[in-house]
Amino acid sequence: MSTSEQKKIFVTRRIPPEGQKLLSQADSYNVQQWDSDEQIPRDELIKGVVGAHGLLCLLTDNIDKEVLNAAGPNLKVVSTLSVGFDHLCVEEIKKRGIRVSNTPNVSTEATAELTVALLLTTCRRLPEAREEVKNGGWKTWSPMWLCGAGLSNSTVGIIGLGRIGLAVACRLVPFGVKRFIYTDFQEIPENAKEINAEYVSNEKIAEDSDFVIVNCCLTPETEGLCNKDFFRRMKKTAILINTSRGPVVNQEDLHDALTSGQIAAAGLDVTTPEPIPTDHPLLSLKNCVILPHIGSATLDARNAMSVLTVNNLLKGLAGEPMPCEVKL
Ligand code: DGY
Repeated sequence: MSTSEQKKIFVTRRIPPEGQKLLSQADSYNVQQWDSDEQIPRDELIKGVVGAHGLLCLLTDNIDKEVLNAAGPNLKVVSTLSVGFDHLCVEEIKKRGIRVSNTPNVSTEATAELTVALLLTTCRRLPEAREEVKNGGWKTWSPMWLCGAGLSNSTVGIIGLGRIGLAVACRLVPFGVKRFIYTDFQEIPENAKEINAEYVSNEKIAEDSDFVIVNCCLTPETEGLCNKDFFRRMKKTAILINTSRGPVVNQEDLHDALTSGQIAAAGLDVTTPEPIPTDHPLLSLKNCVILPHIGSATLDARNAMSVLTVNNLLKGLAGEPMPCEVKL
């Protein structure tokens, strides 16, 4: 079959090796790829997607009406190499009858581990401590120097007790957390009972938690959920951790809360925008630890995500059930 007769797949980035290998075996398709580790420029995305039947994209690609129009009526499947799909214009996609898939489950452990790592890094002030060792600030052992907050006997509030939220909580149990509370769109009793968690309001999460951990997806309801009012309710000693999506936290309000002593510290793996500008005020704060969206960044998780993304795409194009289809 000539490439003009084959269905076209457009891939917006070089993907991890195991997925890349699977893609190279899909020789009944005309696979075109932005063969780079850098983000595809918008004009190349618009050009590349023209006539595509399948689109394999990343969370950094804004798949909006313009992209869908450029792709045209051939487009049947959008397969994203991520759990989150807030970068996809779901309304438009739905209207056009395009199927969507994502990569849940395979990155849960990696993301939960990173969340715990970020929590410990933030509450025990590791970046500050490391800096003091390097800059000569370490003069002597001192009883109150670099004291932080411990997890033992604490109350942990989880915003979003889905797969990742639950995996985070399970990893925190051995640290001696006394109480788990959570919010979500609705109660999730099967998850809650594993960690004996109580379903509460957003206000109560803010008021009662020593550590608030954000693991929900980004929706109109969760956008800006951690804002001035939320921080005002938090304990002065409390710490906020976000490994979900940047816009769930209002960063200006967070900056105010951190500088005015309204809350003790924050650890963010996600920001708005990404990357966060290097002169952003949050980056100058000692009580704010920021990582570059590396929640799922283990080799195993990223390879598994890439394999699942390709499998989703190929099954979708074949008109078969996709391993992880998003119900729109
Ligand atoms: C996702 O999968 O949505 C994460 O943000 C990146 O792994």
